[in-house]
Amino acid sequence: FPTDTPVITSSETQEALRRASEELRAQKTVAFPTETVYGLGALALEPAAVAKIFSTKGRPPDNPLIVHVSSREMLERVLPAGYAISRTYETLMKHFWPGPLTLLFPSDPSIVPSIITANQPTVAVRMPSHPVARALIALADAPVAAPSANSSGKPSPTRAEHVYDDLQGKLGVILDGGPCGVGLESTVVDGLQDDGNLRVLRPGGVTVEDLERVIREDLSDVVPAPRVLVHRRDYRDEALEQAPTTPGMKYRHYSPSVPVTLLCTQSQSPPHTARTSLTAFLDTIQADAQTQGKSLHVGVLAPSDSPLLDRLRAASLPDVRWTEHPLGPLAEPAVSAHRLFDGLLSLDKAKVDLILIEEIQEEREGLAVMNRVRKAAGDSVWLDL
Ligand code: TXA
Ligand code: MG
Repeated sequence: FPTDTPVITSSETQEALRRASEELRAQKTVAFPTETVYGLGALALEPAAVAKIFSTKGRPPDNPLIVHVSSREMLERVLPAGYAISRTYETLMKHFWPGPLTLLFPSDPSIVPSIITANQPTVAVRMPSHPVARALIALADAPVAAPSANSSGKPSPTRAEHVYDDLQGKLGVILDGGPCGVGLESTVVDGLQDDGNLRVLRPGGVTVEDLERVIREDLSDVVPAPRVLVHRRDYRDEALEQAPTTPGMKYRHYSPSVPVTLLCTQSQSPPHTARTSLTAFLDTIQADAQTQGKSLHVGVLAPSDSPLLDRLRAASLPDVRWTEHPLGPLAEPAVSAHRLFDGLLSLDKAKVDLILIEEIQEEREGLAVMNRVRKAAGDSVWLDL
C-alpha cells in the first residue's frame, strides 16, 4: 500500500479494496464508506467514468461533484500548475483534513473535466478521513469524484444497506465499512473571495464554531480576521440561489418517498404557519386517518429528551400507530446528525404514511441537521408543546 494509506491488516479488507480499485481503474463506479456518508465513486479525471455517476444517480448535469484525494500530492495534481494555496486554506487543511471539510479551489479545465465542475471556474476538493475511503483512493492512485451514493433527491446513505436498497443492480461493487460516523455530508466552504472571508455554502460535519475557533487560534494576526459567513443566514447571493452550485438550492433534496412535516417547537420566530397546540395537531392526524379509512403509521424523529415523545406516547389516537426514531439528547446535536438520514431511510423502508421531525437548535452540528431537515420537509407546523 502507498505510504499515505492507513494500515489495513485484514486480508479480506485488502482483497475487497484491491477489487474495488480495479473496478475504478476499469472506469466503473464503486460505492464506498466515508466518515460523512457513503459515496458513489469514479475516477475524477476520466469524463466517461464520471458520466456513469450522473446516470446511476439520475443527477442533473449542472450539479458539480466533489473530488476526493488521499494525499497532499494528489491535491496538487488537480490544482492549476503553480497555484499558491492561501494561508487560510493551509490552516483549515491542517486542522480538518483528512475530514468532513470540502474546499473550493480554482479549476483548470485542461486538468479537471468540465463534467465534474459543471463548467464552474472552481473545483470542490476534500480529503476524507475514513480509512477505507483513503485506502481506496490511494490504491486507485487517482482523484475520485464522489457524490453521495443515493438516487438524486433522496436522503444520503449512511449504511451500506441504504446504498444496496437504493442502487442495487446499477453498480458493481459496494464496499461495506459499517455505519458512517458523522452521518451528514461535508461542510462546503468557499474561501476564494477577495474579502478573505469563508463562505459556508453547505453546513456539514465541520461546524461553524469549529471554523471560527481555528481562525481565532491560528489566524489571530491576520487583519481583518476572516469571518465565517453562512449562506442564507449571514448573506444571500441571488445568483447562487438560482445556480445549482450551492448544494440543494435548485433541486429537491433529502426527501423520502413519504411526506415529511417539520415540527417547530424551538423557534423564537414563527414559520409561515400559525401556532397550534399539540392536541389540535394530533386531532388533524386522527381525522386524516378517519378520512382515509385506515390506521396511519407515523414515524417520529425527535430528540430523546424532548417532551414531544412523552406527549405522543400518552396521547391515545385510536387510528394512529407511532414508530419512534430518537435523535439523541438535545445537548448533543452530533448524535442527531449521526441518526437523521438513517432515521429517514429506515422509516421510509418501514413504509410509514408520514414522518414528523422535531426541530433542534441550530448550534454546532444542529445547523447542518436543520439545513437537511428543512429540505426534506414538505411543510411545517409551529407547535406549542
Ligand atoms: O460528505 C460529502 O461531501 C459526500 C461524501 C461522499 O464525500 N459527498 C457529497 O457529494 O455530499 P454531493 O455531490 O452529494 O454534494 C456535493 C455538493 C453538491 O451539492 C454541489 O452543489 C457542491 O457540493 N459543489 C460541488 N462542486 C462545487 C463547486 N465548484 N462550487 C460550488 N459547489 C460545489
Ligand atoms: Mg448528495
